[in-house]
Amino acid sequence: MDIKKIKKARGTIKVPGDKSISHRAVMLGALADGITSITGFLNGADCLSTIDCFRKMGIDITIDNNKVIVCGKGLYGLKKPSQTLYTGNSGTTTRLLCGILAGQRFDTSITGDASIQKRPMDRVTKPLTLMGAKIVNDRCPLYITGTQLHGIDYTMPVASAQVKTALILAGLYAEGKTTIHELEKSRDHTELMLTSMGAKLSVDSLDITVEKTSSLQPLKADIPGDISSAAFFMVLGAIMPNSEITITNVGINPTRTGIIDVLKDMGADITIENIHYSAGESIADITVRSSVLQGTEIGGDIIPKLIDELPVIAVAAVFADGETIIKDAQELKVKETNRIRAVVDEFQKCGVDITETDDGMIINGGKTIHGADFKTYGDHRMAMSLTVLAQLADGSSTLDDNDCARVSYPSFFDDFYKLDK
Ligand code: S3P
Repeated sequence: MDIKKIKKARGTIKVPGDKSISHRAVMLGALADGITSITGFLNGADCLSTIDCFRKMGIDITIDNNKVIVCGKGLYGLKKPSQTLYTGNSGTTTRLLCGILAGQRFDTSITGDASIQKRPMDRVTKPLTLMGAKIVNDRCPLYITGTQLHGIDYTMPVASAQVKTALILAGLYAEGKTTIHELEKSRDHTELMLTSMGAKLSVDSLDITVEKTSSLQPLKADIPGDISSAAFFMVLGAIMPNSEITITNVGINPTRTGIIDVLKDMGADITIENIHYSAGESIADITVRSSVLQGTEIGGDIIPKLIDELPVIAVAAVFADGETIIKDAQELKVKETNRIRAVVDEFQKCGVDITETDDGMIINGGKTIHGADFKTYGDHRMAMSLTVLAQLADGSSTLDDNDCARVSYPSFFDDFYKLDK
């Protein structure tokens, strides 16, 4: 499709619900005793994969737009699915399910699409095996024989909320204590939600301890907008001349707000208003106005707080004066596609001065760029980042696949082009 260019970016946007919280609300709701009601649910392909897997394990789930009702059957209420669980493009569904399924009293198999079949699963299967889990393969398809698990003391070699959550979920079923040490703080939605549901869980800075739990109370969850989706509008607002975009009701959990820190550091004009709290999550309205940006250096323990936003932060760097260095971001190589390679290759097509490094990229910004025929590699965040990039390129651009945006943001193009009306 042609990437239409907007002439102005002014207005108010309400982005869809947070993807990480939506997955967790369905999964934990299914394991709770009774009815969980969710509003603001992200109706994107990834979260629908989670719903589909739990329906296949006997959980009644109804969806009405963004309202979801999950009839939880308790920690031991899932039933053996009659088919392989299919997780589509969703790493979160696949890895979190491993943690739940390892401790069940039945066997399961899981697989997903071509991208999921390439992504590393040994980061969850290895520590789960230390807990006694029986899992064959370290990439999908995975074959899991349910068994009694035992607690472990585990230091995570990578900063990953998916791995941490898989181990916490397995810990609910394991005899004794499971203690997980993070080297850098990753998103903590699981910890917040499980605490509100009465799980035996404690957090001490980078250490999380969970004990075998017999029951979880159901949730009433009102899910805030996803800061990872708001990110596209934050960068658009900062780089487009004469723009002012307000994104309402966005989750600003401190484990997710690295993009705000980085854009502010680059000189972006950002205001955060109406801060309020719901179920331990902080929420606010974010306004971004056109700004003169400067290059910056991004690395260290901020990386897990903005990992999904790096492709669109790279777009901001293209329009910032001077050099931006992104480092310590090797994890980008094992996302929906290799996002270091994909960003570098696609940005070079339109004349961006960008170099791939082993753990990130270096961008020399502030130069004129031209339109190009872009590839998304089936990656939703590439599709949305390239759409923002193309806005300030001379001439026209195309995208090979806009449909993949539905993984996390089904109404992205509608919302985007509304800003020009
Ligand atoms: C997620 C954690 C992150 C993130 C992904 C969602 C989660 O992945 O990139 O989009 O919901 O826990 P990693 O755990 O692999 O860093």
